[in-house]
Amino acid sequence: MTSDDRGSWLRRQLAELRRAARLRVLPPRVAWFHWRAHRLASRRRDLFTLRSATRPADLRVLLELARDRRRVVELGTATGWTAVSLALADPCREVVTYDILAREPREDYLRLANNQARRRIEMVTEPGSSGPRDERPVDLLYIDSSHDRAETIAEVLAWRPALLPGAMIVFDDFTHPEYPGVREAICELGLDGERRGTLYVHTVAERSS
Ligand SMILES: C[S@@+](CC[C@H](N)C(=O)[O-])C[C@H]1O[C@@H](n2cnc3c(N)ncnc32)[C@H](O)[C@@H]1O
Repeated sequence: MTSDDRGSWLRRQLAELRRAARLRVLPPRVAWFHWRAHRLASRRRDLFTLRSATRPADLRVLLELARDRRRVVELGTATGWTAVSLALADPCREVVTYDILAREPREDYLRLANNQARRRIEMVTEPGSSGPRDERPVDLLYIDSSHDRAETIAEVLAWRPALLPGAMIVFDDFTHPEYPGVREAICELGLDGERRGTLYVHTVAERSS
């Protein structure tokens, strides 16, 4: 091994260690999925997934917010990492996830999850703004789709009737400088809430009796 080879081997090991440290914030089943999914994505040079999947620190917050929430809808499936994570984190949770594209490597990542979790994920190839396909109420809506102002507003309006009192709407990339549309939509809709990392969380008011 030359000193250059040794240097790049060491850099790779350090990167792996840093990644393992970041995954420690996640529940073990979810961390294990992410570890294997990341290896697969790196082998396949699937840069889209490596760049677009929700980061472990934000995913930890999302999973905390989703605790005890049994019907979760995600808008923006991409290759399914967050949908799988939500399903793995709670064995009673159903996840419905929408994307305008059925991205090709998705099935390979889904295969890394157990059958029990996979059976609880419904994938819909439709824009998020097409809204619910049935009457079942939703207790968390996670929006990580176009990041466009008009589309985000249309998504909230389409899903609002399905949200239970006390349900949450979680917006991804609230602080991202390239996606002002998310902040503009929240502002235009007048949604109060709080920032959690790069997420913005709005809680649907309980109905007054
Ligand atoms: C940032 S990625 C989502 C990442 C995913 N939530 C995860 O954590 O793995 C955004 C995805 O939203 C999808 N998308 C864009 N516009 C959309 C729309 N109007 N409705 C639903 N999905 C949309 C894109 O095709 C892309 O796959």
